[in-house]
Amino acid sequence: MLKVINVVGARPNFMKVAPIVEAMRRRATEFAPLVVHTGQHYDARMSEAFFRDLELPEPDVHLGVGSGTHAAQTAAVLERFEPVVISEQPDWVVVVGDVNSTLACALCCAKLGVRVAHVEAGLRSRDRTMPEEINRLLTDQLSDLLLTPSPDADENLLAENIPRERIRFVGNVMIDSLYAQLERANRSRIREELGVKGIDYAVLTLHRPSNVDAREPLTRVLDALARIGARLPVVFPAHPRTRRRLEEFGLLGRVEALAPRVRLCEPLGYLDFLRLYSGAKLVLTDSGGIQEETTALDIPCLTLRENTERPITITHGTNRLVGTADAATITAAAFDALDHPRESRPPLWDGQAADRILNALLEPRA
Ligand code: UD1
Repeated sequence: MLKVINVVGARPNFMKVAPIVEAMRRRATEFAPLVVHTGQHYDARMSEAFFRDLELPEPDVHLGVGSGTHAAQTAAVLERFEPVVISEQPDWVVVVGDVNSTLACALCCAKLGVRVAHVEAGLRSRDRTMPEEINRLLTDQLSDLLLTPSPDADENLLAENIPRERIRFVGNVMIDSLYAQLERANRSRIREELGVKGIDYAVLTLHRPSNVDAREPLTRVLDALARIGARLPVVFPAHPRTRRRLEEFGLLGRVEALAPRVRLCEPLGYLDFLRLYSGAKLVLTDSGGIQEETTALDIPCLTLRENTERPITITHGTNRLVGTADAATITAAAFDALDHPRESRPPLWDGQAADRILNALLEPRA
């Protein structure tokens, strides 16, 4: 029986950990799972709602770190996670994704000599101004087992001299959650609530510091939003950081003035958001995960970034990289994606990744 600590910290972690914990509970003779929440995200809409929607068990331990600078947040997780690992003595710690909590917990384990497995290993944007890229590079260096979502990730790791025997291509565990929850999401009334039931609409999400922490890129996205909104309504669930910046830059009134073509709302839970984007004709986003979720459901996606660590969503999916340098480019790409949708699916995005992850943890190792 393997005792495993599963770490969650921020919103994009919950849908990756839920299927792993569920599979461990189903395979209870092989695994004893614990869930540790670092508390990086703490708002009800950014955290609690996801536990409910994804049927994730309450965390066994909550570290309550909250927001802070990158150094302060990473340090707080490192300091508060260490005594948990020392007292629990797990066989494995599983970390997912690329948030500050991911790196902090991997570093803690590496120092304690506790084995750590990284789910979603090997993704690279090659943009070191992105905090997540630093987290990915370092977490992969520190991990004993690298569980990858796509073959490009294996190649990235091998190019960084990570030994092949540490790498397992298991597929995309976030897609396990998506398939598992599609039916429950059908019960959500969010399309009715937002007034988009039965009509063509788009969805926008935006939260990356490079897009929202300066006035100029944010303004360019709003320009594009006005033009796209003239063709079809756009729903815009705003991350707390984004809403704060819109207020600070005096841009909130501009977004609100675009109503009802642009419908600003609070961040949505997992099921409501799934119900919303699964019916959209187009998604615009700077998120990593949403590039993958739209590919899994054949929804056209425009990525509002200059690069992506998920190139497979372009080569085998619906994603197009458009950046935020120019409002006209975003608008033209949006209209092209609406007029010429694409369909295809990456290998092993089949809803079975969690069991492959568990099997990799069970393999005998030196
Ligand atoms: C984090 C992740 C990012 C992920 C994103 C998804 C890192 C480096 N970044 O970015 O990869 O895509 O989560 O949401 O780990 N805030 C709240 N309530 C919350 C959480 C945050 O109001 O529950 C506000 C705070 O003002 C905080 C700011 O958002 O300072 C940023 O939060 P933080 O967790 O530092 O980074 P995110 O931008 O959310």
